[in-house]
Amino acid sequence: MQPEYIIIHQQVAPYVAHIQLNRPKELNALNLQLMGELREALKVLDADEQVRVIVLSGNEKAFAAGADIKQMADKTAIDMFNVDQFSTWDTIKKTKKPIIAAVSGFALGGGCELMMLCDMIVASETARLGQPEIKLGIMPGAGGTQRLTRAVGKALAMEMVLTGRLLTAEEALQAGLINRVVPTELYLQEAIKLAAATASMSPVALKLAKEAVLKAFETSLEEGLHFERKNFYLLFASEDQQEGMQAFIEKRTPVFKGK
Ligand code: CAA
Repeated sequence: MQPEYIIIHQQVAPYVAHIQLNRPKELNALNLQLMGELREALKVLDADEQVRVIVLSGNEKAFAAGADIKQMADKTAIDMFNVDQFSTWDTIKKTKKPIIAAVSGFALGGGCELMMLCDMIVASETARLGQPEIKLGIMPGAGGTQRLTRAVGKALAMEMVLTGRLLTAEEALQAGLINRVVPTELYLQEAIKLAAATASMSPVALKLAKEAVLKAFETSLEEGLHFERKNFYLLFASEDQQEGMQAFIEKRTPVFKGK
């Protein structure tokens, strides 16, 4: 079945797929259907050999303005518990291939949390990022208190979560929350460019390297170093390692196969 709230663009650059959130009238508010469609699309692209990197965007006005407030407004705690909307996010988190967020306009609440689930973030100069849930009498529920704090530190995370203050793209860049800020007309193009550069690397090395970086958020330094070393050694079982090193020695561009 065709998804209703996302658009999948295949091969926007070699080995790069692009998923666009597409509920523009609601500023891409993340209702259950949209999140379900996103989860399924990521599962399919994660298994597709023709895809090595995924770009996730909204539109110029909004990456996503958060979880769908209208869908949540009359829910009880038990409704929320039974529906367990954030379990979808756990599946998205398991995507092995790198995901690059292309963010313009609002990335708020769940939108900011979705952005932070991505591995690199290219923002337009108009991007406004934050966790305004406190203004609704709630708090972030999809990782905002944890991923934001790890990214920007306690002082700024507290201010954003407790007052709902939004960051400009420039502030987010200074705080280390995003990778780069570009003129609005270029944000998607730049994200695809970054994705294409990433996709030219060995896909198997990309997955194991992503896994190792993410491990740094979950574990002690000692365990993380151990994990990194195992992934490093594992790559010596890949044809891509042989190709990468041989190409260096022969002074040519490697051709990686993901094997
Ligand atoms: N949920 C549902 N609908 C939303 C929405 C959301 N998060 N954000 C915007 N919309 C809807 C608006 O209700 C409006 O719909 P109607 O035309 O039917 O009235 C439409 O999108 C356009 O929005 P605005 O008219 O409000 O546009 P604006 O440019 O004046 O303001 C905005 C933009 C500042 C982003 C404002 O829409 C806003 O504050 N949105 C809510 C942001 C928010 O609080 N997000 C957190 C949600 S909770 C959450 O995400 C929990 C979690 O941790 C997962």
